[in-house]
Amino acid sequence: MTQGSKMVESIIRQAAKKIIGANNVVALTGAGISVESGIPPFRGKGGLWAKIDPVEVAHIDAFLENPAKVWRLLIRDMGRLLVSAAPNDAHHGLAELEKVGCMATVITQNVDGLHQAAGSRRVIEFHGTFATVSCLQCHLQQPIKNCLTADMPPRCDCGGVLRPDCVFFGEMIPTAAFHAAQAVAAACDVMLVIGTSATVEPAAHMSVMAKQNRAVIIEINLESTPLSDSISDYMIKGPAGESMRQLTAAVDQMRAAGP
Ligand code: OAD
Repeated sequence: MTQGSKMVESIIRQAAKKIIGANNVVALTGAGISVESGIPPFRGKGGLWAKIDPVEVAHIDAFLENPAKVWRLLIRDMGRLLVSAAPNDAHHGLAELEKVGCMATVITQNVDGLHQAAGSRRVIEFHGTFATVSCLQCHLQQPIKNCLTADMPPRCDCGGVLRPDCVFFGEMIPTAAFHAAQAVAAACDVMLVIGTSATVEPAAHMSVMAKQNRAVIIEINLESTPLSDSISDYMIKGPAGESMRQLTAAVDQMRAAGP
């Protein structure tokens, strides 16, 4: 169903009211929030997985078997794109909400660091990060930008192969991030779910946990997802940047007007 501008305005006002009335607001974000920063999503229109097979390039077994190939097909270009990307209005909107006390934590599936670049301070990187790489042999960490022009695969001074500090398919979610995300999802009373297809577990389950704790779920996405007709209380159908601009403006307006 398409949403007219009057309808969007009304949903945004209702959602803003829920945010202002909440004690503990959390966001769960996915690739769609960074599309307006020039980073392609994985699925849907322009999705990366339509062009390259994730089993061939994003599974830990594929990486360990042929790291040079995975660096060449995926990591190098993605790394170059991410180091030069800048946050958009959606990232800035979440950081702004945190600043005014209306956002406790962002759980992100993204590895691009754009929430932190926008100023969000409490960010859980559920799928790790592309900002750094680690040596498979001595585990020394360094910024990914150090090795984007090296011979592939880039190597540590000790000779070991370097890997990005993200989660490949076939790997566990980092324990600290997993536990922290579960705790904040279970404790929030409003969850903003932005730009995720909600198809990858266990990340998608964080919104289900929030709902089980009776949180209000506010979804922002260009398209419907499995959450839209099941657990989402409000669905703002639109681009993340514009939607967050409108939502933060409504929150500001209501805060200024007082109780
Ligand atoms: P997906 O690529 O699966 O989904 C992106 C979502 O963003 C879709 O639902 C789109 O409709 C929506 N979208 C696209 N552009 C948008 C825009 N401008 N504004 C709002 N929404 C927009 O991304 P994720 O759900 O994050 O995992 O994918 C989850 C995981 O799958 C990723 O973290 C990655 C991937 O394989 C690993 O690499 C382990």
